[in-house]
Amino acid sequence: MAIFIPEDKISEIKNTVDIVEIVSETVLLKKTGRNFVGLCPFHSEKTPSFTVSPEKQIFYCFGCGTGGNAISFLMKQEGISFPEAAKRLAKRYGIDIPTKTISAEQRKQISQKESLLHLNRQALNFFRQALVETVAGKRALSYLKGRGFSDEIMDRFHLGYAPRGWDNLLRFLSKKHISTALAETAGLVIARKDKSGYYDRFRDRIIFPILDVNMNIVGFGGRVLDDSEPKYLNSPETPVYHKSRTLFGLCSARDKCRVENSVYIVEGYLDLLALHQHGIENSVATLGTALTAEHIRLLTRYTRRMVLVYDSDEAGIRSAQRCIDTFWKEHVDFQREDVFREEKADTHILVLPDGDDPDSYLLKYGPEAFVATAAQAPGIISFLIDRAIEKHGLSTEGKIQIVSDLHATLAAINDSVARSLYVKQLSERLDIDEAVVLEKIRVAALRKPQAISDRRSPSSSASAMSASESLMTSGQKSLSEVGSRIEQQIIAMMLQFPQILPQIESRDVLEHFESNILKSIGHTLLHHKFKSAAQVSELLNFIEEPEKKRLVAALALTDESWDENGCRKLINQFVETIQRRQKSKLMDDKIKAAELKNDKQLLYKLLKEKQKIAIQSAKQKITLLSNK
Ligand code: GTP
Ligand code: MN
Repeated sequence: MAIFIPEDKISEIKNTVDIVEIVSETVLLKKTGRNFVGLCPFHSEKTPSFTVSPEKQIFYCFGCGTGGNAISFLMKQEGISFPEAAKRLAKRYGIDIPTKTISAEQRKQISQKESLLHLNRQALNFFRQALVETVAGKRALSYLKGRGFSDEIMDRFHLGYAPRGWDNLLRFLSKKHISTALAETAGLVIARKDKSGYYDRFRDRIIFPILDVNMNIVGFGGRVLDDSEPKYLNSPETPVYHKSRTLFGLCSARDKCRVENSVYIVEGYLDLLALHQHGIENSVATLGTALTAEHIRLLTRYTRRMVLVYDSDEAGIRSAQRCIDTFWKEHVDFQREDVFREEKADTHILVLPDGDDPDSYLLKYGPEAFVATAAQAPGIISFLIDRAIEKHGLSTEGKIQIVSDLHATLAAINDSVARSLYVKQLSERLDIDEAVVLEKIRVAALRKPQAISDRRSPSSSASAMSASESLMTSGQKSLSEVGSRIEQQIIAMMLQFPQILPQIESRDVLEHFESNILKSIGHTLLHHKFKSAAQVSELLNFIEEPEKKRLVAALALTDESWDENGCRKLINQFVETIQRRQKSKLMDDKIKAAELKNDKQLLYKLLKEKQKIAIQSAKQKITLLSNK
């Protein structure tokens, strides 16, 4: 049965909810001007074009065109219905909703997740038993012992064994009356291609259960006992297992991360086990997937010092550099301490010597050596500088190449203190003048396309910058190409200060617009009796054309502050421009006519008049400019 939420409750929710807070739970947001920007969770992108406006309580992605309010965000993010999203928000903000029942859909989802967790627990029991109590499990046990792992660590991580054969788990589950369909959803069994039945995903493998911070078993990893391929198998994404949000070992590590105030992030299951066995319990593993922003955010609940550990082979280094991107974004994002209570993430890269991974390193050198080496791990930028020097050398050409490799990274740092410290560091390492590096960064910044709000306030937003970039790269027109600047400003004003709409209407402002698309947006606003900036989110819902949607969002999100007076000035300025244009056109027509008639006297008079108008309008322009 569907839940019915009364309209007044919906408004109460809308008025109470803070979209920045909601979005921040899954997206790393960074404040730019009045808005926040981050990487869009709904499409894949490298530069943030996902914009959230706390004032208007809306979000909008300039890259993929998704937009809406807090409720629509949750709906899309979680794949849930409107009432469910509303209910979830209500619950979070302590708004009481009188409902008699939860929806069937909701019940289904909750019960599916619960069933999956229950199933995983059953499966783990099976794997555990197979490792500890069966003859077949002895091989697995001795493999683990052979690699130096103690019974204690195997117990602590609930290791198991999936026996050889195609249907051991299947048969166990059916004895427990657990549906095969559910086991398929959990990724534990796989349907045969010919649809004749199912088979176990994990066969003859050591099993590593993956736990979330609440000790739920969300997935499994499995390693072969020999050199066969693939070495590891993992559960697929399921309703309870999201790889980008899961870190192996976090539930065993989190308290230690707080105590030690640092965390080691490694790549492998066995590396992680080795660290814990050697008493280095503030460690987690990413399990072959690249470190995500969500991983980092999860960790910052416990500590700000993060050490990424890699072996020294090519793959390790590449992977380290890929992670730097993510980390760097996070690093920058931590300037927003109102959303992230924690301080900035303090990130280091540790590449272990001689091709060792943490496991082999610990076996050779022991935990003290590991901790000592890790303490020396360079910060993220120093690491980059080291790498660049290694790659290019310190010849003159090398130095040029290094600056050229790094200036974009440095330019992206929006904490000016941090940036200047890193610039200093780079110039000292290269023994070149700081000014040279700074100039390179300045040029890089200038080369970026400018968007409307940037032109207004030079210090303002990366959001507008990347917004216009993504408008351009996706083949759409950038803001600067659509209509005149003043027409854009008027639409922005109408969106941001709708009190002005009656004046726009009574003075026929839109009729003089040259840009059809801006004119049509203006008419939509008038037609729909657009009353408050908070309605932008609803407006976006019913504008169909993507180009228009993008423009509305872009203009609604520019950093301007409006008051009655400023608005009137802008309208006057526009009307005066139009009148001037009309006058001068009229004059031109008259002059043409006089030329045709060869009326020298009239022509002379008209030309003089035209000159006078030109002087007047130049004067007007000057006063307007000096009034700004
Ligand atoms: P050992 O060889 O047992 O010491 O494992 P390792 O962790 O040192 O292996 P490696 O460094 O090759 O891989 C690191 C992590 O990447 C593993 O723990 C897995 O999570 C993942 N991984 C490695 N090989 C595979 C594979 O073949 N398939 C998948 N899906 N993941 C893998
Ligand atoms: Mn290893």
